[in-house]
Amino acid sequence: MSTIILKGNIIHTPSRTHFECIPHGYLVSENNQIQGIYTELPEQYKNIPVQDYKDRLIIPGLCDMHVHAPQFVYRGLGLDLQLMDWLNHYAFPTEARFQDLSYARIYYEAFADAMAKNGTSRAVIFGTLHAPATELLMEILEQKKIAAYVGKINMDTLSPDYLCETPEGSLAATEQWILDTKDRFHYVQPAITPRFIPTCSSEVLKGLGELASKYDLHIHSHISEDLGEMGIVRERYPQYDNDGEVYDHFGLLNDKTVMAHFIYPTDRELELMKQRGVTIAHCPQSNGNVAAGIPPIRRMLDMGIKVGLGSDIAGGYSICILRAMADAVYLSKLKWLESKKQDSFLTIPEVFYLGTKGGGQFFGKVGSFEPGYELDAMVVDDSSLGTPADCLTLEERIERVIHLADDRNFTARYVAGEAAL
Ligand code: GUN
Ligand code: FE
Repeated sequence: MSTIILKGNIIHTPSRTHFECIPHGYLVSENNQIQGIYTELPEQYKNIPVQDYKDRLIIPGLCDMHVHAPQFVYRGLGLDLQLMDWLNHYAFPTEARFQDLSYARIYYEAFADAMAKNGTSRAVIFGTLHAPATELLMEILEQKKIAAYVGKINMDTLSPDYLCETPEGSLAATEQWILDTKDRFHYVQPAITPRFIPTCSSEVLKGLGELASKYDLHIHSHISEDLGEMGIVRERYPQYDNDGEVYDHFGLLNDKTVMAHFIYPTDRELELMKQRGVTIAHCPQSNGNVAAGIPPIRRMLDMGIKVGLGSDIAGGYSICILRAMADAVYLSKLKWLESKKQDSFLTIPEVFYLGTKGGGQFFGKVGSFEPGYELDAMVVDDSSLGTPADCLTLEERIERVIHLADDRNFTARYVAGEAAL
């Protein structure tokens, strides 16, 4: 039996409303199942070595629910453009380069290292349409112990010639890649990943729905992100009221689906997401950068729709989900103002919950330190933030880490019950 005992200032959010903080507590996991948090170590664990992180903070691993690995190359560029121009000028030409495996290796290694350094234990990731590079990305993530659903993406229409598949080619390559990668890794699984409705023909969307069901796979895409994108979808599918109904028609909405953005949902579409058990990846930094809009996250939470946070590299330039937490609060305040102070803004415990347990539910019992959860834990050193720790409560210390964090802060990581640094 593998028992891990971590000691330190333990912080997590079993519920959305408040932090649970245990100063100088013991977090005990046996075979990747959390047994409990204790202020005194129970007798039965007395002979087991304790990893003592002293005054550091121990938080659940962060979950990045929507990120484009190839776009790590050009993060921070083109952020004065709107979505469709940004895709044409930056995303598509960069992604085309991943046909070259030696190029892919350099940037996928850098991407995975950055995720690990920034406290992410789990992620849902877009690759490119190239199966070999996507398989390489999966190998690199496995090696670096980042638990992930990864997608070879599909694009067979309204895409540049140099980055466009045929419908048959797209589906055949996807099925072969599924056969090559499904259940091959411990931490990483393939996910069905249509880029978004505009770049996928009906034939491909239908085929992807069938593959998802045949191989029982998770599904990842973009939904109702931008008025330009949505206009294309309404024109192509006038019989449907919204993006959600199109995905649903092709069998792509269920409780194994994560959809990024959802900025302009209709009432019917909100109801559909709830009924199907879809998780929404809220990517606040990207929503502002590509001038897409502000999603009604408060409304989604009030309805009981599942929500997590995403970096959406490179619509977002920061890969750190702590930064996504800070941005989620900020953007929700703009929504509060925009709604004439009707949609109350998100609180600090709420965004912490979204970035850990909210996204974590997509992976099983992940993102919290409650008994029975998997052990994903990050150790944070906040001593560089300049205020003596004894002046602040643990709630205040994590709030400052959320707002002022950078990669110096993470000093140890555990993913699925194993040390991973
Ligand atoms: N919609 C289709 N492709 C993309 C992409 O690469 N990033 C974002 N943010 N939205 C998209
Ligand atoms: Fe995206």
